[in-house]
Amino acid sequence: MQGKFITLEGIEGSGKSTNLKVIKDIFDQNKIDYVITREPGGGPLGPHLRKLLLDKDQSISPSVEMLLMMADRKDHVDNLIKPNLDKGVWVISDRYLDSTIAYQGGGRQLDINLITSLSAALKLPSPDFTLLFDLPVDVALHRAEERSELDRFEREPKDFHSRIRDSYLELASNNHRIRTVDSSKDIESVSMQVEKYLTDFLNA
Ligand code: TMP
Repeated sequence: MQGKFITLEGIEGSGKSTNLKVIKDIFDQNKIDYVITREPGGGPLGPHLRKLLLDKDQSISPSVEMLLMMADRKDHVDNLIKPNLDKGVWVISDRYLDSTIAYQGGGRQLDINLITSLSAALKLPSPDFTLLFDLPVDVALHRAEERSELDRFEREPKDFHSRIRDSYLELASNNHRIRTVDSSKDIESVSMQVEKYLTDFLNA
């Protein structure tokens, strides 16, 4: 049986990575065989592409940025995501195609049809389930600033991040596979939401 494909999405500092532990615990308790991966960077070419894409000293045009994200994704899908799903292993990816729609479509204001057409042409699989970590941009950027040195995306102005948040919320309102976690709450409450949504998905 095919594995299930689960993705985590959200703006900078939204708590995706912090909640991986909760997700792993639920999968372990349910004896599910899984791999955890991320974008950009999950395929064999990924480490090079990720370094280039996040480098604050690189100047990359919006279209080139989108194409590099899609190249990274195709490499990731063909070499890690699909082979695992095909042998029944579940894949949890920290970011996937919704990130390109929100960041390059919403943030950089590229044509979303171009992104979805390219995705279809490349035969990229659609996730079975997505958790969107959502919180106000000010709070999220403050968390990101406290965490580490800001990368090329984190340095963008607030309105860039606001457009990304709006795109994510629009995607969530149009897609039943996306569940929105209120990430502005305390750690305990966020973990409980993640646990509930994931358990509901597993029992569906
Ligand atoms: P992160 O994995 O540490 O969140 O950083 C990845 C950065 O890359 C983040 O700022 C979002 C950005 N990104 C895009 O702009 N488009 C994409 O398609 C993906 C996967 C990530």
